[in-house]
Amino acid sequence: RMDVTETIAGIQLPGHLHTAQSLQYAQEFKFREGDIVIITYPKSGTTWMQEILTLIYSKGDPEVATSVPNWERAPWLEHMYFKDVLKEGEGPRIITSHFPSELLAPALQISKAKVIYIARNPKDVAVSFYYFHKMAKFLPNFDSFSEFLQSFLEGKVSYGSWFQHVKGWHEQKKNLDMFYITYEELHKDFRRSLKKLCRFLGCPMYSRELDEIENHSRFPVMSQNCMVNYTLISQDIMDHDQSKFMRKGIVGDWREHLTEEQNAEFDKVFQEKMSDCDLRFIWSL
Ligand code: PPS
Repeated sequence: RMDVTETIAGIQLPGHLHTAQSLQYAQEFKFREGDIVIITYPKSGTTWMQEILTLIYSKGDPEVATSVPNWERAPWLEHMYFKDVLKEGEGPRIITSHFPSELLAPALQISKAKVIYIARNPKDVAVSFYYFHKMAKFLPNFDSFSEFLQSFLEGKVSYGSWFQHVKGWHEQKKNLDMFYITYEELHKDFRRSLKKLCRFLGCPMYSRELDEIENHSRFPVMSQNCMVNYTLISQDIMDHDQSKFMRKGIVGDWREHLTEEQNAEFDKVFQEKMSDCDLRFIWSL
């Protein structure tokens, strides 16, 4: 099914993870009080947040984080295997989604679930996503970065438009119990972000627990953790010779990839689409 795609609301999604039924199921999902939902546009810090939440609920003990794959401990709502892996044990259910707000906000609005949204500078998202397209055999192939960038700016990539995603969820802040953070803030002041997150979750932590969480969710440590670095996924689904999933983990890699012209075009599109949104990145766009 590698070449198959599913479409929902005009958005294409890889067919080996999504089916018409799984997409339907996701939209009608009954969230309950205590559920924690991580929502992101791809390549914005999803895996990082999955790891942070796992570590928060284990009080910094890395046992679960290093023995259970992230897609089992924080499964994607819209994936076809979601129902089979969702944990119903102790502690909150941690659920992940890449759905845009049009598809998921209605179900969340009638629930008491807590939502964590992470946005990342779209230029870095585009770069990261381009490399991911090279490695992920379930995503379409692009001949060059400039070809990919064009599609990205037009919103004609898998998972839809970054602009619509980020704006749509930003507008939902007033309707949901939401913690909205950027990848850049997490990077710049991890400790402060973590404390804010723990407060939002209502999870008081000792500072040695915060130390442990910080230690185990650092990029070099996560890169080596096969429960989050996707090396458990076979080479014919993710070609790890093309790119690593844990690629660089830095802010501003776009500067190494966008030409001056591409950057100007990006800024123009950003201004057009985001002028009515007050989201700010702490690093310049
Ligand atoms: S996915 O496919 O949507 O789940 O991808 P996602 O996890 O959202 O994004 C992958 C990028 O996040 C980087 N990453 C990190 N950066 C900093 N610190 C930590 N701990 C971390 N973990 C993952 C990862 O390297 C990808 O970004 P790039 O720029 O490609 O390196």
